[in-house]
Amino acid sequence: MDVLGIDFGGSGIKGFPINAETGEALAERYRIATPNPATPKAVAKKIAELTAHFQWKGPVGCGFPAAVKAGVVRTAANIDKEWIGKDAAALFSEATGCPFKVLNDADAAGLAELTFGAGKNRQGVVILITVGTGLGTVVFNDGHLLPNTEFGHVEYKGDIAERYASDAVRKRDELKWKEWAARFDEYLCYLTKLFYPDLFIIGGGISKKMDKFSEYLKVNVPVVPAELKNNAGIVGAALAAANL
Ligand code: BGC
Repeated sequence: MDVLGIDFGGSGIKGFPINAETGEALAERYRIATPNPATPKAVAKKIAELTAHFQWKGPVGCGFPAAVKAGVVRTAANIDKEWIGKDAAALFSEATGCPFKVLNDADAAGLAELTFGAGKNRQGVVILITVGTGLGTVVFNDGHLLPNTEFGHVEYKGDIAERYASDAVRKRDELKWKEWAARFDEYLCYLTKLFYPDLFIIGGGISKKMDKFSEYLKVNVPVVPAELKNNAGIVGAALAAANL
């Protein structure tokens, strides 16, 4: 089945259609800048632009940067607070005329990596972390995914972890890779003490830059990049919508 996958991120809304059986991309990725403020109305308009670009009429999956239960947005750390309580799936369906599945963006990336990437056939506890505007997390055990974990929001050093070790913080504070990696490594060690994972998978844009910082990671658990790199969220969102 052909499904359109979309990833709604802090800086861009991007997507492409895939064949959900093989994961194969059916068209070039298309990106629209995230509107500011990213209110429900403004984002729905951009999502409609994206479906129109592909002249899409079929099912759509959308990874969303918040906890999402049954299509309803529950948190809004890096998006407009107006989202809380909104049924994003219903809103996007109405704006586009297509059936929508909306899920947490890290859960989407996790689904893709479990199916086609670094988590395929992996036993034990795997934690995937998307590093971008925030820190998104997903945990799977023996291939079973636990949705809506928010480990980017664990309290850390008097604040929350994503305000200490996200890629946005690295850029904002102009941290050298070594400095940022030391922070991220602390975070990985902290998660290790809490969850004893067998593997960390790093997703988001930073997964393409692992060579810049992997040598500084001392955590005693293997750390690998998402094999689908920053397309994992798009592919996983499409997979989640394949049964619509
Ligand atoms: C949100 C998560 C999301 C992550 C990455 C966090 O601020 O709370 O739900 O997965 O950012 O976008």
